[in-house]
Amino acid sequence: MHSLPLTLAIVYLASHCVRAGTVSKGGDCSVASQRLNLGTYQFYSECDIITFCNATASKCELKGCRKDQFPFGYADNADFPPLCPSGMFCPDEEDQCLEVLPVSSPCQFNRDDQCQPPPNHAQLKDVQGFGRNSNGAVCLHNICMWANATTGEACTVENTVFAVFGSDGHEYADVVSRDNCQINSYCDSSTLLCVKTKEYGASCTGNKECASFNCLSAGACGSSTDTPAHVSKWVYGVVAACALGGVVGTLSLLLTLHKKEREEARKQRMQYWEEQNALRSSFLSMQEAAHTSLHSFDGNTRRLQNGSSKRHSYYDDLQTPPMQGPSKSLSGLRYTVVSDDGYDSQLQTPYASGQASPSCSAPR
Ligand SMILES: *[C@@H]1O[C@H](CO)[C@@H](O)[C@H](O)[C@H]1NC(C)=O
Ligand SMILES: *[C@@H]1O[C@H](CO)[C@@H](O)[C@H](O)[C@H]1NC(C)=O
Repeated sequence: MHSLPLTLAIVYLASHCVRAGTVSKGGDCSVASQRLNLGTYQFYSECDIITFCNATASKCELKGCRKDQFPFGYADNADFPPLCPSGMFCPDEEDQCLEVLPVSSPCQFNRDDQCQPPPNHAQLKDVQGFGRNSNGAVCLHNICMWANATTGEACTVENTVFAVFGSDGHEYADVVSRDNCQINSYCDSSTLLCVKTKEYGASCTGNKECASFNCLSAGACGSSTDTPAHVSKWVYGVVAACALGGVVGTLSLLLTLHKKEREEARKQRMQYWEEQNALRSSFLSMQEAAHTSLHSFDGNTRRLQNGSSKRHSYYDDLQTPPMQGPSKSLSGLRYTVVSDDGYDSQLQTPYASGQASPSCSAPR
């Protein structure tokens, strides 16, 4: 497709001439040095990026219009020169807006927008935005034309070698072929006749040969590069199942952990209850022993018997451990503590009489 010396020349020129000029506003310049850089076809002038070279004064002046919505090289808060209104265009020099040019007028490279659209532009324009024409007009070999040639008709073709910079930093050549055939056809470079575009899967040598404008590296027409990806139904099923499985798995894991924790807490409560019960029993037997010994010395037996029987009935109620669920077990725990207090307060009377040892309050 291209020779090695040509590639080297492209690479050399592309890497040495990509920058805009350095002459700022008011400086001297020459329109003769203006050109399109080889390889990139970027417009070059001696003036810097915000000025153009005025041919009559040969001085750099601030640009009078811009071609791009967001022009390159301006400061963040700078005032851009205006975009041109409909029916006018801003040339590569960006000096001033000009009227669009009729068919056969000279136009600048790849500037289809400089040419007047045909009357049937709605039918001829490139609605898919593949860059084949601008509103049905096309600039080929620097001449304005309409992209109206039908299948089998003679056509004009322009092949351009661009230097392309890959993501890996390497430059390589890319041939772009443009023509004036209507949208459903392309200009065959060997016969110079419009040929119908190829469908998906047909062999191809360039994007323009395919209706999808996408000739794959394997040499066959692929689907359009902006075709949405279609996923088969089973993928949706797998994704849904995974999502559901994740949710259910997380829930069951949490439930299992929580159940384990609850079981642990229940065991602890049981242990606590048994401890307290044992303490209470030993305390009770101590009390009984004290009462028995008191009984033998003191004559006031009726009062102590009443207290003792009352206490007995109280403890009989607590012989069953708290086996309820989590919320009830908590109140069961509190109940045990409360019953301790009640027990103590019940025993205040014998203590207050000063007839029992104060060390008996130790189980609290
Ligand atoms: C170029 O300069 C001349 C005189 O210095 C001026 O009349 C003319 O308008 C300028 N051209 C543009 C495009 O500004
Ligand atoms: C096709 O476009 C050319 C200009 O490129 C024009 O001269 C010619 O009349 C057009 N033909 C038709 C049928 O519109």
